[in-house]
Parts: sequence; C-alpha cells; structure tokens
Amino acid sequence: MCGIFGYIGDKEASEKIITGLKKLEYRGYDSIGVATMNDKLAIFKNVGKVSDLEEKICSKNLKGTTGIGHTRWATHGAPTEINAHPHYDKDQKIVIVHNGIIENYQELRDDLIKDGYKFVSQTDSEVIVHLIAACYAKSNNIEESFIYAVKRLQGTYAICCISEYDPSRMFLAKKSSPLLIGVGEGENYCASDVSPILKHTRNIIYLDDNEYAMLSTDSVVVKNYKGVVVEKEIVKSTINIDDVEKGTYDFYMMKEIHEQPESIINTITNRCFIDEGKVNFDFIGINNNELLNINRIVITACGTSLHAGLVGEFFLEKFAQVPVEVEYAAEFRYRNPIIDSKTLVIAISQSGETADTLAAVVEAKQKKARIISICNVPGSTITRESDGVIYTKAGVEIGVASTKAFTTQITALYMFSIFLARIKWIINKEEAKNLLTKLYEIPELIRRILLKKDHIYTIACKYYTKPSFLYLGRGISFHVAQEGALKMKEISYIHAEGYSAAEMKHGPIALIDENMPVVVVALKNRSYEKIASNISEVKARQGKVIAIATEGDTNIKNLVDDVIYIPDCEEELSAILSVIPLQLLAYYTAILRGCHVDQPRNLAKSVTVE
Ligand code: AGP
Repeated sequence: MCGIFGYIGDKEASEKIITGLKKLEYRGYDSIGVATMNDKLAIFKNVGKVSDLEEKICSKNLKGTTGIGHTRWATHGAPTEINAHPHYDKDQKIVIVHNGIIENYQELRDDLIKDGYKFVSQTDSEVIVHLIAACYAKSNNIEESFIYAVKRLQGTYAICCISEYDPSRMFLAKKSSPLLIGVGEGENYCASDVSPILKHTRNIIYLDDNEYAMLSTDSVVVKNYKGVVVEKEIVKSTINIDDVEKGTYDFYMMKEIHEQPESIINTITNRCFIDEGKVNFDFIGINNNELLNINRIVITACGTSLHAGLVGEFFLEKFAQVPVEVEYAAEFRYRNPIIDSKTLVIAISQSGETADTLAAVVEAKQKKARIISICNVPGSTITRESDGVIYTKAGVEIGVASTKAFTTQITALYMFSIFLARIKWIINKEEAKNLLTKLYEIPELIRRILLKKDHIYTIACKYYTKPSFLYLGRGISFHVAQEGALKMKEISYIHAEGYSAAEMKHGPIALIDENMPVVVVALKNRSYEKIASNISEVKARQGKVIAIATEGDTNIKNLVDDVIYIPDCEEELSAILSVIPLQLLAYYTAILRGCHVDQPRNLAKSVTVE
C-alpha cells in the first residue's frame, strides 16, 4: 500500500527520497510524488514508476534539504497525477503525504468547501492539508495546526507534513498505519518501514498511535495528543542489509523461495531443543497456567497467512487437543464472535500491519481474549497489540507474493502445538523429540525440491497459456492447494481456484475439459486412494493433471500428465514441502507470461486499509 519517505538534513533531499521510494516499491503503488523545500516548496508527481519521476526530477535539478515522498495505492480517486501525493494547501505553503483512509473525509470536505476551500483531487487525504491551513490562518502556529487537523480525523493514517511556515521542522502522526523514524547524525528520516532507512541509520523510533513527532536536522521530539512529551526508546535494527537487496536473483520472489531452508532454520534455532523434547519461546506473553486455562483457539488472518492458519489447525487440534477455528480476519469482527478470556486468539501476519487482522485483534482484546501473534516484522502494530508474539524469522519479505512467510508461519504453528501439547502433558518427551527431529529435517528436504526447478519450468512452459487452473488437495493438502492457486492468480493473472478434491464433484467438475490444467497435491498418506479416484474423475473428462506426489510413488505416473516429486515426510509437515513446487510453478508461469512477479498489478504487500 502507500509508502512514505521523508528526509530532513543537510544533503539533497530529492536523491534520498527517490532511493527511499524505490525501496518501498514492493509495497504496491500506482503513482508517486515528491515535495522538497528550498526556501519554497516544489512538488513533482507522476503516474507510473519511481524511475519515471526520477527522470523528471533530474531534468529540473530539484533542490532542497528537506523533503517528503509518497507512493500511492489508489483508494479514493483514480491513479492520476492530480490524485497523487503530496497535496498542497491553497497558498502552496504546506504539503502533506498520507497513508490510510480518512473515514470522515466527506463531512470534513463539505465543511471546508463551505468555508471557501477548493479541492483539486478526489482523495480523502486532501482534507488534511486544508484543515492544517484553516487552523494556521487563525493560529499562525504549524504545530498547533497540525495536531488540530490530526485530531479531527477518523480512520487510519500515517501523515508527514512540511511547510514554508516552519521550514526547519517536519511533522508526523500515525494511527493504525505504520510510520517510523530513523535517527541519524545531523539528519533524520521517516518511512513506512525500515527498508529505505537501513542504509542511512539503524537507530529507529517506532511512533505509536496517537503520538505525533517533530523532526529537525538534529532533534526528534515526540508528543502525545495532549501535547505531553513522550520519551521514546531508540531501537537498533538488526536487519541484515542484504535481506533488502535482490542479490543475483531476477526477482525477490525467487530469492525468497530459495531462502526458505534458512528461514526455517532461523525460526526453529534456539527455540526447539530436541534432546530435551522441548520448545521455548521468548515473548509468549501468557504464562503456562493461563495457557492451560484456554479452552478454545481462534486463528485469524488474511490471504496466505490464513492458509498457514488452516494448516496449523490440523496439528493444534491433533497435538494440543484444543478446538480450533480459523477465520478470515475481515469477517471476524463483524459477526460478533463469541470469545472470552478462555479463548486464545492467534493472529497471523507477515507484515504485522494488515488492517483487517489488526482490527480482529482489537476486537478480540475488547472481548478479553488472550492474543498471541505470529509475525515476521519486529515491533509492528499487531505485535504491539498482542499479549505475546512468536516471531517468524523469515527475514525481510519483499515479493508481494508471500512465500517464506507461509512456510515459517507453519513452522511456528507446529512448534507452538508441540509447546502446548507438552505443557498439557498430552505428549511426552520422546514423542516431542520425534516431532522436533522431523522438523529439523525439513530445510534439507526443501533444498532437494529446489533442485527440481528446471523440471517445474518445463511444466510451466506446457501450461502457461491456459486461462484457468484448478488446484485440488485433501486434508492439509487442500489448504496447500488454496495457497498454490492464490500464488498463481496473484502473479500470473491466471484464474485459479483451490478446492478440496472431495468437493470437486459438487460443482467445479463442470469446468473440466482438455483445456483445464488441474494441479493435484496427491501425497502418499491416508487420503491417497481417495485422491487417486479424484484424479481419475478429472482424467475421465480430459482434464490435464499435474500431480505433486511422494517420491517413490511410481504408480501415479500412469494416472497423470506431469508429476513433481517431493520427499516423504510427516503428514503435518507436508504443507511446507508441497507448497514449494507450487510457488515455483506460479513463478515460472508468471515469468513466461511477461508479468512483473514482485509487483503484481493492483496488489500491495501490506494491506493497511480495511
Ligand atoms: C500473499 O501472497 C498475499 N500477497 C496476501 O494474501 C497476504 O498474505 C495477506 O495480505 C496478508 O498479509 P500479512 O501476512 O502481512 O498480514
């Protein structure tokens, strides 16, 4: 979604901002803009890519050592140059950029229009700058005007403002949208996430909701909305700078697919102790007695993270023997869910900023549920709203199509299931040792699958022109099928559906003909015979079947058109392996169709609006 980058210091701001915005491109955007201040404010905007604006800015030799930039993902108003941020007030003395949605913008806009303010864009964001200007006309004080405007907003926002009236300061505020500050020497930064800041400084201040900040070249002052100064901790970011670079890969997605063995090792290291048959977490936030009191688990998430939750449901119920429900975060809060202090809500989110998941967490908190988040981004909003957090240690995930987040989320859920089962005395030390040993084998098995990528590419070459794909599986593999279909549709724009193979004959079978590739996750487990029958049903209707099968299953070759073998493993862990070929199949299909894998159209990496 929208990305913000701001700089105040003694270097040329436009260069810093363009480099910063390039690092935010992965979030998804359709237009961009930059404002700098050199005595006077100047704005440059464009529809399209950051590199297009870079050319425009270079040709104008844009000067100024203070500036703000924005990548916009359109919500209110089409992706046009006028709707792109920054937005000016009527005297062109104040500019703002905004990420989020102002829910009461219509009412504010109507009032401002009555007072003679003219709007040039269709955005909800433009009200902010006019509100600041309206207050400034009376108060002559930008700090007061900024906070006056912010307090009138309902909805979500991360806002950054600079003004000719107070050129030595930059103003920031946030509510439910991410915004952090990079503290440098003789210069300061702000951004929607840490990736564009890291090359300048590792000293980060996380702004909290209902706080505003004022940056100058050599100071950062944070206050709450009552105007009281808040002492903020400066956190040293430990993110490896290589994590935010593509390295030798063409796309982040491919890099991230290959990082999965390492990400899983990082997620289990220092938490799983095979010899002791034990799992330990640092920030679980809920003590064992409280956990023993839990009588129900609700997992809530969106997209890929939801699919990980659906996989986790199997082993939480099996190992820890606690009833589990998995619910779309966007639906959760609107159906008045029955939860209480004995409910554990597990919120899963790679970014920790997904608005729907955050809203579900807030709802669950109000109902007194205990909350653990499974999250990849330290310090993100969802982790701060939760009682405890299990960090997935996937490293920065930049590709919009989530890959290593999915496999590390499943890893975290698997570890948590064993942890819970152990404190409940449902499994003994030997059983836990066995389960953990199997988990430790997974990274090497993934490496073996990655070696098959040429074969997967050949399969992609056969099917990439098809308009539609069906993905089938049963049990855990049903949710892998859903995840495989999601990957295919989001990056290749091919229509794809993930179904329980058993459900196929209740509808989707009508779609099958010789043009329909059907990807079937058909592993050697207790559903194998049944899924083999489902494959026969597809073949009887001339469908083309690509099977993900267990190594050694020679029989399946006779039933299907193409096979990708994966190593045998525990059924509970099979999703981590079987999803790898599906990630690669989607990747190669998208490449063959000429799609930009890391920045698929209309999508955003972290969806910070509901
Ligand atoms: C996955 O490939 C997606 N792009 C998307 O479904 C994502 O998983 C979803 O938006 C949730 O994001 P989160 O994990 O950051 O909360």
